[in-house]
Amino acid sequence: MSKRMHGKIVLVTGGASRPGLGAAIGERLADEGATVVLSDVDLPGVEETAALIREKGGDASAVKHDVASQDDWDQVVADVLAKHGRLDVLVNNAGILEVAPVSSDRAVAALRSQFDVNVVGSFIGTQVAVRAMRQSGGGSIVNMSSVAGIVGFRGSASYAASKGAVKLFSKSVALEVAAENIRVNTVHPGIIRTNMQDQGADSNSDNYAAIEAAIPAGRLGEPTDIANCVLFLASDESTYVTGAEFVVDGGYTAQ
Ligand SMILES: NC(=O)c1ccc[n+]([C@@H]2O[C@H](COP(=O)([O-])OP(=O)(O)OC[C@H]3O[C@@H](n4cnc5c(N)ncnc54)[C@H](O)[C@@H]3O)[C@@H](O)[C@H]2O)c1
Repeated sequence: MSKRMHGKIVLVTGGASRPGLGAAIGERLADEGATVVLSDVDLPGVEETAALIREKGGDASAVKHDVASQDDWDQVVADVLAKHGRLDVLVNNAGILEVAPVSSDRAVAALRSQFDVNVVGSFIGTQVAVRAMRQSGGGSIVNMSSVAGIVGFRGSASYAASKGAVKLFSKSVALEVAAENIRVNTVHPGIIRTNMQDQGADSNSDNYAAIEAAIPAGRLGEPTDIANCVLFLASDESTYVTGAEFVVDGGYTAQ
């Protein structure tokens, strides 16, 4: 049986962090036969992720990329097209979280910086990917939102605003490009064990045990839980799925 991503050219942003969602997504897609380009502002980190994937037999390379920069996007996607001929899948995974209660001095600055990376970064990526995918007859764009794009989180108003924006611009773009065989969906992870979550949990002075108690499935998520959902959306198994939101949270937001 052929692998689920056989022959697909994939770009995943934010691949340096380990444990991190981008690295897990890159590994899972490569495992299913994709040619994976991983990008990140942290070049040594993302090169290490790509090397680890290659050690396991996957096809992966790494590139330096600040997703908030239009020039970087133009260069990164031009390079993918020059090297691989097309772009089939873009996973806009790179993102930042800053806990900043609305009354704190950091609140507005945090809003601006998170919008720059989480919203503007994913938006430019979506634009550049749509243009590239048009040339090859279609593709799949997966934008990383959050359960914070579905329900409120105390202390994280600016992060939640950015993730809500990702959800709704994605649905709107899905409508624009559906007839061109380009699909746009969002993934909404719950609380997943990654570097981001470690830092967020610390600065919240929360702890994992308390969070775990509030999750119906009784455990935090693992990066592979998210990677498996992205795999479905990236593959041809989801060709009739667009403009949709996929919550992967152990039942957290069902309550
Ligand atoms: N971990 C969770 O519980 C969780 C939950 C919901 C949503 N998310 C979302 O999933 C995505 C990945 O999260 P994670 O937990 O792996 O985070 P992480 O902090 O572990 O990794 C994020 C990666 O993005 C990179 N990055 C940051 N700014 C960048 C920029 N401007 N350009 C390029 N790369 C940049 C970082 O260097 C890092 O490698 C994010 O969009 C995050 O908001 C995570």
